[in-house]
Formats: sequence, C-alpha cells, structure tokens
Amino acid sequence: MISDDIVVIAKKEIYTVKNITELNILKVKYLGKKGYIKTQFLLIKNLKKEEKINKSIILNQQKKKIKKIIIKRQKEIELEKNNKNFLNQKIDISLPGKYIEMGSEHPIKNIINKIEKFFVKIGFEIVVGPEIEDVYHNFDALNIPKHHPIRTEQDTFWLDKNILLRTQTSNVQIRIMKRSKPPIRILTSGKVYRNDYDSNHTPMFHQIEGLFIDKKITFIDLKSILILFLNFFFGKKCKIRFRPSYFPFTEPSLEVDILNQKKKWIEILGAGMIHPNVLKNVKINFSKYTGYAFGLGVERLAMLYYNIQDIRLFYENDIRFLKQFKFNNFI
Ligand code: PHE
Repeated sequence: MISDDIVVIAKKEIYTVKNITELNILKVKYLGKKGYIKTQFLLIKNLKKEEKINKSIILNQQKKKIKKIIIKRQKEIELEKNNKNFLNQKIDISLPGKYIEMGSEHPIKNIINKIEKFFVKIGFEIVVGPEIEDVYHNFDALNIPKHHPIRTEQDTFWLDKNILLRTQTSNVQIRIMKRSKPPIRILTSGKVYRNDYDSNHTPMFHQIEGLFIDKKITFIDLKSILILFLNFFFGKKCKIRFRPSYFPFTEPSLEVDILNQKKKWIEILGAGMIHPNVLKNVKINFSKYTGYAFGLGVERLAMLYYNIQDIRLFYENDIRFLKQFKFNNFI
C-alpha cells in the first residue's frame, strides 16, 4: 500500500499534536529506524528491479513531504509557545528603569582642556614631551647651575645618574626649540614629579607650559597674555598680583599670585623672558629673537577654581569627591 494517502494521514495526525514531545513520537513513527518509511523500503526489497525503482522514488517523495510537514508543525508549536509566554508575562510599567552611571572627566583634565582651548584659539600649538628625562633637558640646557637645590635628592626622583622623572614641563621648551625654527608658539601639559607631600604638594602634579619665541617679543607681551588668560579663566573680578622672582632659565622672571576666598595670595605660575643662555644652548640667535615662557600649576588653579582645600583629594579616587565634577565638563 504505497500511495500518497499516507502523507494525508500523517498530516492529519501531525496536526493533532500540541507539543514537541508528541511531535517527536510521530517523527519516529513515520521517519524513524523502525518507522513507516523504513519498513516500506524493506517490503519492496524483493520486488523486480523496475518496480523497486518506481516504488522507492515514491517512498522518497513521501519521506520528503512528511519531513517538511513535521518541520512546519514544529515551527508553529514553538511560535505558539512563545506567544503564550509573551501574553502571560506581566509588565509592571511603574518599575524604575535601570540607571546607567556615566563616567566623567577628572577635574584636573577638565582644567587642562579649558586652558588648552584658550591658547589654541590664540594660535598656540599643543605639543607633548617625555616624563622620563635626562639631566640635559631638565636642568643643564635650562641654565640651571650644577649646585642648584632643585637638583638634589630632596626634590628630584632620580632613575640613575643621568635619568630622572622630570621636575617641570620646561624640558619641553628645550626639546621644541632644538627641533624648530622661530616663530615658535607652543603649549604643553603633563605630569611632573617632586619629592614632596602635604596638603599643598603631591609627589606627582601637573603643569602647563607655554613658550613663544619671535622677533620683538617683550615683557609687555608676556604680562598681557597672562592677564588676558587669567581674566578668561577666573573672570574679570579676580585679583592678580605680579611679583618679581627668579628662575635660572628666564630673565627677568616673575610669579603670579591670585587672591583666594580666604583673602590669601596663592602662587599659581612662574614666567619670564627666555634667558639668552637658554637660546644659545638651543642655537637660536638671541640678538634676533626674544621670547617668553610660563609654567602654570594645574592643581593650584583647580583648587582655586573649585575651592578645594586639600590637593591630595585629587588623587585619592574617592567617588564622592569625583562625582561633584560630573556636570562641570567644559564643552
Ligand atoms: N618651570 C618653572 C617651575 O616649575 C615655572 C616656569 C616655567 C618659570 C616657565 C618660568 C618660565 O616652577
């Protein structure tokens, strides 16, 4: 009894089942090792060649059709099950959503970005320099005499006799002046290291260094750029004090103080006109070119800007402290 009827019968039966387990039983019944199709193949084994071929073609077609019906039914059963699960789900629309915490810029990076933006706008180019430096770029070329206290163990972290962690970003001045020709107008920011630790000092802190070399650059240019910058940064009402100072690599030199909320003068930067010896060291003609440089203490600026009393807070990674700056990211 090899006829297409078996497909019709199988289909009817397949459509009475309601789940995958029942369907699997039918799968075995029709297509399994001892199932209908296999049995039929055994029955035609002894028939004549031609008849055997014809019947086996039919049997193979039936097998294919039943298989197709089973797969279709399987998909339907799965879909019905999913739909049922979905409909049974209770959705509580009053449940609060999942809050994804956003990170934010560290306040120090914040301040650096703000300052860089200002100087880029007036034509300064941002450059970077190494934190691990040699004596030549950190001291010698900057006209810092061999006996200067800044070189002693007390201030400097030495890696060996000639290599150290830079104590100032002024090393970048030398590196840039050595490889470029005036006019030079650069700004660099980064970490510097000094062996010091209290509420106003951490062994690692940040500086921003500016350098401008061209013909006819004067002390007035330096003072004007600093006033312009400080007015931008702190607002016009902030009180600025210029104080004569000394740095081996600038002459004349000055320091700038800002009056804080407690009416105390806080030093925030050192600056001056590049010393002719420094220009000589980097082979810039000092009778033709002059220039100025300034170095800002980023933590000091951040402490004044955000009214923070202890510098160590920046590096303790207390999430309660850091969270306060979330909405202060400068755009
Ligand atoms: N490098 C100096 C310091 O660390 C600051 C400075 C930079 C002074 C540039 C003059 C010119 O204190």
